[in-house]
Amino acid sequence: MRVKELAGKTAFVTGAASGIGLGIATAFAQAGAKVMLCDIEEEALSAALKQLKLTNADVEGVKADVSLKAELVAAAEATTARYGKVHILVNNAGVGGGGPYGTWTEASWNWTLGVNLMATIWGIEIFGPLIEQHGEGGHIVSTASIAGLISGASNAYNVSKYGVVALSEGLRLELAPRGIGVSVLCPGFIRTQIVNSRRNVPKRFEEGVPAMPTSGPRAEQINMIRERVSQGIDPLYVGELVREGVENDWPYIFTDLEFEPFVEARFAAIKQGFDHIRGRSPKH
Ligand SMILES: NC(=O)c1ccc[n+]([C@@H]2O[C@H](COP(=O)([O-])OP(=O)(O)OC[C@H]3O[C@@H](n4cnc5c(N)ncnc54)[C@H](O)[C@@H]3O)[C@@H](O)[C@H]2O)c1
Repeated sequence: MRVKELAGKTAFVTGAASGIGLGIATAFAQAGAKVMLCDIEEEALSAALKQLKLTNADVEGVKADVSLKAELVAAAEATTARYGKVHILVNNAGVGGGGPYGTWTEASWNWTLGVNLMATIWGIEIFGPLIEQHGEGGHIVSTASIAGLISGASNAYNVSKYGVVALSEGLRLELAPRGIGVSVLCPGFIRTQIVNSRRNVPKRFEEGVPAMPTSGPRAEQINMIRERVSQGIDPLYVGELVREGVENDWPYIFTDLEFEPFVEARFAAIKQGFDHIRGRSPKH
């Protein structure tokens, strides 16, 4: 059974205290859903809840570092304790971690893959059965990025986001017969705090995650991204697109057309790879 409308459903949204996650939580609450907001940042979470409650939204909050499975399990328990059933999981928490070749550290890879990819995997493992058990159907949305379809400036970020796209594409087929729709959100530049992700590096990784460079080509690249993000799309608009995507079971949710030619160029390059061997008979 598909989620045809959000009203009356319960959603669990990670990274919900800021940016896209807050936009999604707000759009869902405005559509009449009950929303459990989950985030690592306690102060921002309280502020977001306070604002949302002013609008009579049925929202609650739970603090968790989603890259730690035990904390995600506890957050799921808090959600079922508060709302009973969960229908929609939004794996959205993410960090713009990692850098280009030559700047890699183990901590940067672990932090970026932990928050962006492993938390998405565990979110599905933990919430999938909770969604299945009530028989009312549900939906899983995971926030990848356009960097999940075309590689951008950070290797760890690209790998994590391609992983989220791959996972979503595969699970969409597997979970449809179980009454769970799956969408992947691939935003372009959205006006959020993503460029200040380092504020959320957990203590265990702090030493190994290098500070942002302040000069040189990498610093220029980061400044360009900061500029584009600061003038990016409104996160609430993204939240409304996600609501539409869930209610209509879109496999891919895009935010704009800016990167469509780049995705087409990637497909053309892949096709060229096939063209190189077209007409040959593989030896067995
Ligand atoms: N802003 C963009 O242009 C853009 C583009 C493509 C994809 N994205 C993706 O959108 C998602 C949301 O990011 P955003 O742009 O809204 O940035 P943001 O920094 O405004 O919000 C991210 C939220 O995730 C939370 N978070 C970080 N680490 C966490 C952890 N370990 N556990 C729980 N919560 C954690 C942060 O506290 C924050 O509230 C991310 O997955 C990001 O990769 C953003």
